[in-house]
Amino acid sequence: MTAINENFQKLPGSYLFSEIARRVAAYEQEHPDKKLIRLGIGDVTRPLPEAVTAAMHRAVDDMATAGGFHGYGPEQGYDFLREAIARCDYQARNVDIQPGEIFVSDGAKSDCGNIVDLFARENRVAVCDPVYPVYVDTNAMAGRAGDYDEAAGRWTNLIYMPCIAENGFIPAIPEGKADMIYLCFPNNPTGAVATRAQLQAWVNYANANGSVILFDAAYEAFITTPGIPHSIFEIPGAETCAIEFRSFSKTAGFTGTRCAYTVVPKALERGGASLNSLWNRRQCTKFNGVPYVVQRGAEAVYSDEGRAQVRETLDYYLNNARVIREGLTAAGLTVSGGVDSPYVWARTPAGMPSWDFFDRLLRRANVVTTPGAGFGPSGEGYIRLTGFGEATATQEAVRRIKSAL
Ligand code: MLT
Repeated sequence: MTAINENFQKLPGSYLFSEIARRVAAYEQEHPDKKLIRLGIGDVTRPLPEAVTAAMHRAVDDMATAGGFHGYGPEQGYDFLREAIARCDYQARNVDIQPGEIFVSDGAKSDCGNIVDLFARENRVAVCDPVYPVYVDTNAMAGRAGDYDEAAGRWTNLIYMPCIAENGFIPAIPEGKADMIYLCFPNNPTGAVATRAQLQAWVNYANANGSVILFDAAYEAFITTPGIPHSIFEIPGAETCAIEFRSFSKTAGFTGTRCAYTVVPKALERGGASLNSLWNRRQCTKFNGVPYVVQRGAEAVYSDEGRAQVRETLDYYLNNARVIREGLTAAGLTVSGGVDSPYVWARTPAGMPSWDFFDRLLRRANVVTTPGAGFGPSGEGYIRLTGFGEATATQEAVRRIKSAL
C-alpha cells in the first residue's frame, strides 16, 4: 500500500480562496439573478499593457520562423529579461543585484511555496498574523508546521507574529529564535508598509541569528509614500540573509499570463551552501522555464511605453483603493491600507466575526470580500477588499456596502 504524505491530512478544510469561491458559487446557484461584484481575491481586471501584447505578438511571429523558434529555454530565464530586471528594478535604485541572482518563474505564489524545498524540516518558521496562506500551508505540507489546532486557528510549531492595529500592523521581532522568517511588504492582507528602520531591524536579527528572510515584494509597485523601501535589498546586509519574491501579476496584469521572479543573492550561504546554487539546482530539476513569448512580454514592461502604461494601470487600481478606503471610512468603519497597496483592511462593525460579515456582504450587498480570519487568528474581526476591480463596479460596491451595514 502506498503511504501518502501524512502532512496533507493535517491541513484544515480547503485553501482560503477556494473556500470563498465555493461559498460564492453556492450563493450564485441559489440566486442566479443577482449581479455580484468581486472584491475578494486579488485578481486584476485591466487588460495587459499594449507594449506587452505588441511584444508578445512579435515573439509569436519569431516562433513561426526557423531562425526565431525557441524550444526549451534556460530554466533561470532568458538573459534579456534577467538583465532588464537587474538594471531597472535594482541597479536603477542603487541596489547591486546581478542577472545571475535572478530566477524567472511562473509566479511568486509557486516560488514562495517551492522555496521550502531548500530548508530542513526542523527549522522554526515565523509568519505574520494575518498572513498570505501560501507560506503557512506549504510549510505544513513539508511537515514544518506541527499540528493544526482548530480551536485556536494556529499551527503548533509556527511562530505567529501578530500584526494588529496596536503595532500599526508591523510585526515585532519574536523572542524565540526563528530560522525562516516570512515578511511581505506592502503587506497582503493588511496593506501596511515597513519603513527602512523596521526592515533594518529584521535584517540585523536575521544576520545575527543565521536566519533567512523570505521577503514577498509582489506589491512593491503600489508604493506611493516616498522613502518606503521597494526591496529588502535596499537594506544594508540583506544580501547575506534574504531572498526576495516579485511578480508581474499585479504590476502588469500577468495573473493569467504567469511571470514572476525570485532573487537569491550569491552572498547568501547557510550551512556552507550557496542558496543561489541550491535554488538553481532545484529549478533545473523541477522547472523548464517560462515560455519565450511570455518573457518577451515581461521584458516590454521595462520599455518607456510599457512603464507609462503600467503606471496608468497602477494609478487606476490605487484610485479604486482610495474610493473603498474613503467610502468605508465615511460609513463609520475603521479602515487601513489602500495607500501603498491595492488592499484595504477594514474592521467589521461591532466586532462581528469576519466570516459573518463576509456572508452579510455577500447576501445583502452582493459584494465578495475576503474574511480576515482566513488569513490567521489576528485577522478575525476584519475583512479585506481589493482595488483590482473595475472602477464603476468598485464605486457601486462601496455604495452597496454602505447600505448593507
Ligand atoms: C490574494 O488575493 O491574496 C492574491 O491574489 C492571491 C495570490 O496572489 O495568489
